[in-house]
Amino acid sequence: MKEIMKINEYYTEIGNNYLFAEVAKRVREYRESYPEKKVISLGIGDITQPIVPAVIDAVHKATTEMGDASTLRGYAPDGGYDFLVNAILKTDFQDKGIQLDADEIFVSDGAKSDTGNIGDILGQDNHVAITDPAYPVYVDTNKMSGRQIELLPCTPENHFVPAFPQKTADVIYLCYPNNPTGTVLTKEQLKKWVDYALEHQSLILFDAAYESFISQPDIPHSIYEIEGAKKVAIEFRSFSKTAGFTGMRAGYTVVPKELTAQTSKGKTLSLNALWKRRQSTKFNGTAYIIQRGAAAVYTHEGQIQIRQVIDYYMENAKIIKTGLENAGFTVYGGVNAPYIWAKTPDNMTSWEFFDLLLNKVQVVGTPGSGFGQAGEGFFRFTAFGNRENTVEAIERISKLV
Ligand code: MLT
Repeated sequence: MKEIMKINEYYTEIGNNYLFAEVAKRVREYRESYPEKKVISLGIGDITQPIVPAVIDAVHKATTEMGDASTLRGYAPDGGYDFLVNAILKTDFQDKGIQLDADEIFVSDGAKSDTGNIGDILGQDNHVAITDPAYPVYVDTNKMSGRQIELLPCTPENHFVPAFPQKTADVIYLCYPNNPTGTVLTKEQLKKWVDYALEHQSLILFDAAYESFISQPDIPHSIYEIEGAKKVAIEFRSFSKTAGFTGMRAGYTVVPKELTAQTSKGKTLSLNALWKRRQSTKFNGTAYIIQRGAAAVYTHEGQIQIRQVIDYYMENAKIIKTGLENAGFTVYGGVNAPYIWAKTPDNMTSWEFFDLLLNKVQVVGTPGSGFGQAGEGFFRFTAFGNRENTVEAIERISKLV
């Protein structure tokens, strides 16, 4: 038989559509059928509030610089421009008592890419533990690479605190504040995971994309607040929700130099060096203009302005949470995260409830089962809508049930 080109057959083990693409498809079809209906989306966590003036001014200025040969910038430095890396180091870490070096920060086009791409430097035969439900990128990308996954259910029964895996995990994905449940781990709870990783030489991939939404004390913003974490954890951060960069694309990943791993031949390698090698080979940097915008987030005005927007979204979260509770729903999250995780009424499946909301009251959310099997029977609402639509959506849902 003639040799034919082979595809990565692991792709046949994941559904045809990425969760949010599937939701978008169904909403598009509905809108085409009923163009006169006003559909309100509390679905994908996309921003609705304008990007703050400090960022816009910086982006304008940087754009002007690109039109002048004396200030033009070409390829960006691999890990990001110093002006941004130093601002990140100071505000996100040093001011909070965490010491990191500039070459431990890797500026990127966002946490989605990085949490997916990190698999490039990890062996295929790692046993991977992922909380369930979870941001679909973790499971999908590990399936694409053919890795064995153990799901760690997070449910009301265990207060959304995952139990340790049954089989020792080599790699553990934790996202806190959590997408999709909106729940958090205290320092003490997170410390147990760091201690587990230290004991079993596991790697924790800590997605902290929503840390700026934390409102309560004793909730860690960074895993590096926990002693020993630099030996076991990579942390992902995002400007998407913190500063409205969903369409601009910027984030960063912290890979401490203390993180090492052994090859099968017993050679010790630095994960920082491997990630640097991966990024410099496959990624050409976040655009200068965008990095200038991201750096403006850390200025005095930038910090004040983004805080106002975050507070606005968190007020939406409160409106959703209390509105649903008053309508008789059981809900979680929404206090330290922009996500509200609601139990579906009458034991409906997540997709049944999705169809009901879309068809009857034209409100879009995200079916919990799309985030994993432990999400079945739940539904996620986001706080990223505008106020008027958020209030209207909750009124419509309240009248329905
Ligand atoms: C979400 O809705 O979970 C996020 O907005 C999706 C993403 O960040 O890619």
